[in-house]
Amino acid sequence: VNWTAEEKQAISTIWAKIDVEEVGAGALSRLLVVYPWTQRYFSNFGNLSSPRAIEGNPRVRNHGKKVLTSFGEAVKNLDNVKATFDKLSELHSDKLHVDPQNFRLLGDNLIIVLAATMGKDFTPEAQAAWQKLVGVVASALSRKYH
Ligand code: HEM
Repeated sequence: VNWTAEEKQAISTIWAKIDVEEVGAGALSRLLVVYPWTQRYFSNFGNLSSPRAIEGNPRVRNHGKKVLTSFGEAVKNLDNVKATFDKLSELHSDKLHVDPQNFRLLGDNLIIVLAATMGKDFTPEAQAAWQKLVGVVASALSRKYH
């Protein structure tokens, strides 16, 4: 993947403004609400019985933060995203058996949360660069599937 200087700039500008806990929790909650099928992977997380339960579930919150923190490794290693997610790709494939289609769904939900929380900072250029990034992350995480 090649990044222009403008794309790199757009990505890091938005990243610097992200509250990792809020946005991470928001993106994962939203995934679980909008695509309830994804709840199957989190059956040990307790109460996911309604949008309110999902948004107030501390384990969802915690895990959302963990996922977005990990996503941040891509932001810091834009020229090496594949290698950055080698281990996690193996984990999600071999151990967790997460259908890789879900990485794209999570990425799209992240974009929506960014748009909803960033206001005018989320410019068309920022959105395009982030859309590319969530695609690159999803493909890196899908790499070890066989
Ligand atoms: C665990 C990252 C997407 C399901 C994890 C962990 C990380 C992570 C860092 C913890 C690994 C560990 O404990 O060593 C990511 C990233 C994603 C992503 C960066 C995409 C940007 C998803 C999606 C799903 C998923 C879309 C399912 C719909 C899980 C599950 C666990 C996990 C079930 C184990 C949770 C637990 O029991 O604690 N992920 N993940 N992940 N992930 Fe992902």
